Amino acid sequence: MAQVFVATCAAITLLGWTGCHRAPRLTPQQAEGKHLYEVRCAHCHRDNDLGLKKVPPDLHDVFRRSTLPGGAPATDAQVARVVLQGKGMMPSFAGRFTDEQMAALLAYLHTGLK
Ligand code: HEC
Repeated sequence: MAQVFVATCAAITLLGWTGCHRAPRLTPQQAEGKHLYEVRCAHCHRDNDLGLKKVPPDLHDVFRRSTLPGGAPATDAQVARVVLQGKGMMPSFAGRFTDEQMAALLAYLHTGLK
């Protein structure tokens, strides 16, 4: 009986470790989106390396909280539109993303993971 108890505890502890401490895995599509975010967006949206007065908002919760009109969480279409058309000091990325790349970028932003 005690052995079963110990084994169960060990199993739960092990599950806890792997569940909580390992970085969540991204799908290949999300990983591609993360790469695109790092290359095209992070220097403004994470680092604000142009020192813009209107600080580019953190994109990781754009699908949870938004500064888009109405304050409701953004939809995929709204985020895609901002990326393609630009907004304020943000340049337009029209023609710079394939449909697959845009889908990957949105899939990554949906994860909310940094
Ligand atoms: C040159 C800096 C710059 C780059 C590069 C940039 N952005 Fe932006 N972005 C901004 C600024 C500044 C705003 C705020 C615009 C405003 O409200 O006037 C913004 C706003 C946004 C918004 C609207 C968010 C909201 O809640 O209002 C989205 C979505 C967005 N950017 C996505 C992206 C994505 C995705 C990329 C990469 C493909 C990207 N941006 C690249 C500067 C940048």
